[in-house]
Amino acid sequence: MAKAAIRYVCQNCGEVYAKWQGQCTACNEWNSISQESAPTGGHKSAVGARTKRTNVIALSSLADKTPAPPRFTTGIAELDRTLGGGLVPGSATLIGGDPGIGKSTLLLEAAAKIAQTGKRVVYISGEEAVDQVRLRGRRMGLENAPISLGSATNLNNILATIDDGPAPDAVIIDSIQTMYADELDAAPGTVSQVRASAQALIRYAKARDTAIFLVGHVTKDGQIAGPRVLEHMVDTVLYFEGERGHQFRILRGVKNRFGPTDEIGVFEMTGSGLSEVSNPSALFLSDRQEDVAGTCVFAGLEGTRPLLVEIQALVSPTPAANPRRTVVGWDSGRLAMVLAVLDARAGMQFASHDVYLNIAGGMKISEPAADVAVAAALLSSLSETPIKRASIAFGEIALSGEVRAVPQPGLRLKEAAKLGFEEAIVPEAKRQDNAVITRHSVSHVTGLLDALKLTF
Ligand code: TYD
Ligand code: MG
Repeated sequence: MAKAAIRYVCQNCGEVYAKWQGQCTACNEWNSISQESAPTGGHKSAVGARTKRTNVIALSSLADKTPAPPRFTTGIAELDRTLGGGLVPGSATLIGGDPGIGKSTLLLEAAAKIAQTGKRVVYISGEEAVDQVRLRGRRMGLENAPISLGSATNLNNILATIDDGPAPDAVIIDSIQTMYADELDAAPGTVSQVRASAQALIRYAKARDTAIFLVGHVTKDGQIAGPRVLEHMVDTVLYFEGERGHQFRILRGVKNRFGPTDEIGVFEMTGSGLSEVSNPSALFLSDRQEDVAGTCVFAGLEGTRPLLVEIQALVSPTPAANPRRTVVGWDSGRLAMVLAVLDARAGMQFASHDVYLNIAGGMKISEPAADVAVAAALLSSLSETPIKRASIAFGEIALSGEVRAVPQPGLRLKEAAKLGFEEAIVPEAKRQDNAVITRHSVSHVTGLLDALKLTF
């Protein structure tokens, strides 16, 4: 028998090397390369394979009729929404998130709700004993749901179990990093184990039309451990995010082969599991204080859903040569840009101030449309003048200082009007919409100062 070949694999990006080295040249990560035994057999080149018996595959056109994939509900409307309208049989969904954020809680609830509709659901936990999962189920009031529970980490045993009898409608693997295949000589959680386990489970899902959920822990820098390798294998990638100290949790679609990716689901972690938040704007604004300088409400858009959040800024003078810039929930590069534009184009003096920016409720915003609201919060804090409580803002700021239009202004304004806001600072609009709210149009950051005076 040939000696098992050794190879070195980067645990961050999956790049394979013949020799060990300190830094991965593909992803520049240090100390991420570890030794693994190469898979036996190896791949023959595709061209070489042509000399063997081959089949010609039937090619078809885009115009061929394919019905929309059938879907079934998970019983959790916010999860269905992020999935693009329900769960597709035979699909593989990866749910990533920090440890302790609530992935197991969410999936246990989904499993219970699916099982209650008469479907067969298997929940395999590789991290917790069956008793622990049962206790959590009881705490969440789900003890009567007919789920098949198991605690296992051996992939082949799991496959044999779920292959026994009629195929389950849904299988939950919590988490993929704890699974291992016997035939691979690598520790669980390494790239090759994670990849091999996921591949086998996805193959099973496609063959038996079972919807499969894989839970994946995220490493410190925000990547799923054994990372990118999983994202392109599955059909749907959802991230569960939120600040540990806050009760809000956001489920965000990152990739979806069956629907749009920018939808979010909003949950609140309570003593008895996660509860759905169907009107997140009201919740994110529920703790607002009267007339505080440095806050501005941003009318944002997450997927098809408008979402109002409060942006808080604190600007305080400092003698330091390098003033502090601290951001929670927004991009720090973007803050630096807004500050530079306000200094250069509107004559502000942020360079001699520390600046802290926070998005209330632990929400993360990535839309450039928040620029104007951020600028308004900063200006309000700098001038120590509160913005009128019943006003919102949105708009993108260009380096020239121009305020640019953003998608779906009508939808944002309508949501603001619905929640009782009366005034809005908005980019100049080409089209009129029919929301009942007073608009202050701005076309440049200098105009923002005037608009703020009206709403101070
Ligand atoms: P968990 O689902 O175990 O997180 P993950 O699987 O992502 O690691 O969630 C654990 C946290 O949620 C834990 O800190 C306790 C909290 N929690 C509640 O507050 N209420 C509940 O009803 C449950 C089940 C968990
Ligand atoms: Mg868990």
